[in-house]
Amino acid sequence: KKVAIGIDIGGTNSAIGIVDEVGTVLTRGNIPTDRHSDINLYIDDLAAEIERIIASTDVELDIQGIGLGAPNGNYYNGTIEFAPNLRWKGVVELTKLLSERFNYPVIKLTNDANAAALGESIYGCAKGLKNYIMITLGTGLGSGVVINGDLVYGHDGFAGELGHVCVENGGRECGCGRLGCLETYCSATGLVRTAYELLGKSNKPSVLREVVNTEKLTSKLIYKYAIEGDALANECFRFTAEKLGKALADFTTFSSPEAFILFGGLANAGDLLIKPTKEYMEANMLEIFKNKVAIKPSELPGADAAVLGASSLVWKELSK
Ligand code: BGC
Ligand code: NA
Ligand code: ZN
Repeated sequence: KKVAIGIDIGGTNSAIGIVDEVGTVLTRGNIPTDRHSDINLYIDDLAAEIERIIASTDVELDIQGIGLGAPNGNYYNGTIEFAPNLRWKGVVELTKLLSERFNYPVIKLTNDANAAALGESIYGCAKGLKNYIMITLGTGLGSGVVINGDLVYGHDGFAGELGHVCVENGGRECGCGRLGCLETYCSATGLVRTAYELLGKSNKPSVLREVVNTEKLTSKLIYKYAIEGDALANECFRFTAEKLGKALADFTTFSSPEAFILFGGLANAGDLLIKPTKEYMEANMLEIFKNKVAIKPSELPGADAAVLGASSLVWKELSK
């Protein structure tokens, strides 16, 4: 069976899927991204995991290539450059290193959020949409911008770095070295920073105050306690939604999307995040765009958008 390997490299974990031409994930694997600061050791892990999942399936696989999505991944030259949320510093020549290791006809990289955008457009809730912006809310905030049916790569291949738009002058320190970037507020890590900030500012009782004494706060825990009614945990989501909603209103002026599609850890919060984000977006929207832009969560099961989109790079390359 003809298949492609799709890999979604995240700040913490890398998800691997072996995918057929119609987008069925036949088998999956996972490795930590952040175990080694040496890219060669990461590639060792990756190769071992790929071998393991290939061996675990009884289907005869005819592997056509590897497609990857990664933070700061460059579609044009196959490199990852200066990724704030990865341990590999400087420029990593990822596709070159992988082609020294694997003998597949195609090895192709793009930005992780671009991969998610492709996944949604081919297999998910962006089917048929010509203008939309994918927003991934994980360790960082990524974006894939689709205009007139095409993903925008820009002059040098990095277009759509909306996580590093400044939303607060002199605001939180970002991994990119600047201050006040959107991703320092609107991401899984941003939500946790918000919780610590709010806990420091007030004496109000909150379950989160007890939690931080015994364990590390995570976005999942904040979500859990928000749902259970904790006021401070709810305030974390309201604050995040305010920052995100205003930013989405601003992004709308740039490319007039019909929808924003949210993906990644925080997007799983569903209405707790999306409803207030929509309200803040509309309240800050330029008149001509009001009530025209939807915000929806990715509907692909198993957080597969980026793995599927990454695998599609292989089919696209083969059809050229
Ligand atoms: C990077 C983006 C990436 C996003 C999500 C940001 O910090 O600059 O390239 O898409 O994180 O991983
Ligand atoms: Na992008
Ligand atoms: Zn930044």
